[in-house]
Amino acid sequence: MNVYVTRIIDQAGTDLLEQAGFSVKLWTEKRKMTNEELSEAAKWADALLCAGQQLDGNFLSANTHLKVIALHSVGFDNVDIETANRLKIPIGNTPGVLSEATADTAFLLMMAAARKAFYMNRSIIEGEWGFFDPTANLGKDLSGVTLGVFGMGKIGFELAKRCYGAFGMKVIYHNRSHNEEAENAIGAELVSFEELLNRSDVLSVHTALTAETKGKFDMNAFKQMKPGAIFVNTARGAIHNEDDLRDALNQKIIWGAGLDVTNPEPMDPANELLKMPSVAVLPHIGSATEGTRKSMAELAARNIIAGLRGEKIPFPANPEVYG
Ligand code: DGY
Repeated sequence: MNVYVTRIIDQAGTDLLEQAGFSVKLWTEKRKMTNEELSEAAKWADALLCAGQQLDGNFLSANTHLKVIALHSVGFDNVDIETANRLKIPIGNTPGVLSEATADTAFLLMMAAARKAFYMNRSIIEGEWGFFDPTANLGKDLSGVTLGVFGMGKIGFELAKRCYGAFGMKVIYHNRSHNEEAENAIGAELVSFEELLNRSDVLSVHTALTAETKGKFDMNAFKQMKPGAIFVNTARGAIHNEDDLRDALNQKIIWGAGLDVTNPEPMDPANELLKMPSVAVLPHIGSATEGTRKSMAELAARNIIAGLRGEKIPFPANPEVYG
């Protein structure tokens, strides 16, 4: 059985595949595969371990021989799940193992935006560390403020725990259902979307990108937030409208932003958001720690091994494929 891996991943993952007796080929170039290259690779493969590629309906329909596709991500908005379900192709993802690293990134961005940290660091490089002005460069206090979590899943809960523990933040959240663990552990309060916007001092996005969440944070939403609020997004860039976010910051409708995800990615280096003092931007590195990427590679490999052995994969993004 042949497994094609679309990026170099932690060796622990490819080792597991080889130990299971599969032939493994990797895309080693430091660029995204073209559709043609991906189609060519898929012809050889029985399974695909996929990072950073779009898998649309046409691709899936042309590759119904694939027994399993394992994503090297928790998000699966890059795959046409409806078509995968129709074609009965199990799609695996990597839930759980990246929750802590991603929550750490959200926490880092919250703090960096609150204290204008990235901007102040650049000011040293640009030779602007001079006169001490007690009224300049002031940030936001975080102790005791309200954290709003949009999507209280595993990552949202990890961030909430950090904010509650470090700053004694009051935690409110908007979710489809109650997260009893968060309510019991840190007194998190389930609120409507409007209340989340009105009450949050820091509002952090931790939901999947779906038709429902796409563009959810637009000017209309920003206008309902506090003028001192910080917006954080480590989920998917398309959940916020980036022009509206820039306008909301310029017009002081909200105060700051921390983004690990942008729309589009990569972000244009000339993007005005990169120059704003109370904005911190990172290049989608939420899960980029050694341990987390190793776990993601192993988990993706486990999905492939089960799929090629004709077993139910342990972490399906589309469990409905099994009826
Ligand atoms: C994920 O796992 O979904 C991360 O955002 C990487 O894409």
